[in-house]
Amino acid sequence: MTEAAEQQLTETVVESFAGTADPRLRELVTALTRHLHAFAREVRLTEAEWSAGIAFLTATGHLTDDRRQEFVLLSDVLGLSMQTVMINHAAHGEATEATVLGPFFVEDAPVVESGGDLAAGAPGEPCWVEGVLRAADGSPVAGARIDVWEADDDGRYDTQYADGRTAARGAVISAADGGFRFWALTPTPYPIPSDGPVGQLLAATGRSPMRAPHLHFRVVEPGYDPLVTHLFVADEDLTYDSVFGIRASLVHDFVRHGGPTPDGRAVDGSWTRVDVELVLAPAG
Ligand SMILES: [Fe+2]
Repeated sequence: MTEAAEQQLTETVVESFAGTADPRLRELVTALTRHLHAFAREVRLTEAEWSAGIAFLTATGHLTDDRRQEFVLLSDVLGLSMQTVMINHAAHGEATEATVLGPFFVEDAPVVESGGDLAAGAPGEPCWVEGVLRAADGSPVAGARIDVWEADDDGRYDTQYADGRTAARGAVISAADGGFRFWALTPTPYPIPSDGPVGQLLAATGRSPMRAPHLHFRVVEPGYDPLVTHLFVADEDLTYDSVFGIRASLVHDFVRHGGPTPDGRAVDGSWTRVDVELVLAPAG
């Protein structure tokens, strides 16, 4: 009888949305109701747990503002962000696979000339990035803006400093042959912000806040699907990523060198080089 009453409540709530004019909204709220109710019934949710959940979401909202998006972080560590990426960017032939945007992208970062240094003084090992941007049919994509950003060797993005710096971030424009090249930093592991409710969740569940080392790329070019992706570093620990962004096709060799650099820049100590091909899928 209890089970039947519980099931009936779910159906009653679902029916309450039957008059929703927008069919997509009706589909969303109906499925949300079914899954939320199924969750509560599966775990036999206690009232104390319900209250704790409300308090958790409330704290997540209170911490969220223009600079800190704790809800996105929550979505990230639950794998919802990556699941949404995978649903919306199905593999298209040999097009470069997508992964999470993350919270540190900045619109209108400065354009750096070909071969320039995006690191702009950020601490870390220099990394020469050389690549080509092309379409799935093999033709080069010229004149496209390629946004690049990453954490520095201290594990922080420029936006996490209070001094307003722009560093380890910028954009390059692909040449006539689709080629691009620039200096950046060899990516190193860094923790996602863990001083809030999401950090408490990770701690309570024995999970690390660390992200697998990566370099972010974004290319938004007319006629092509927008590409948001990372390069992951092959010889780093790729067994765990706190936001589940790793895809095997995105793992690249960052080859360590000493001595002369590709453009003759004088580098004190070691530097790395990664070669990359970014392949855009046709729009739609
Ligand atoms: Fe990142």
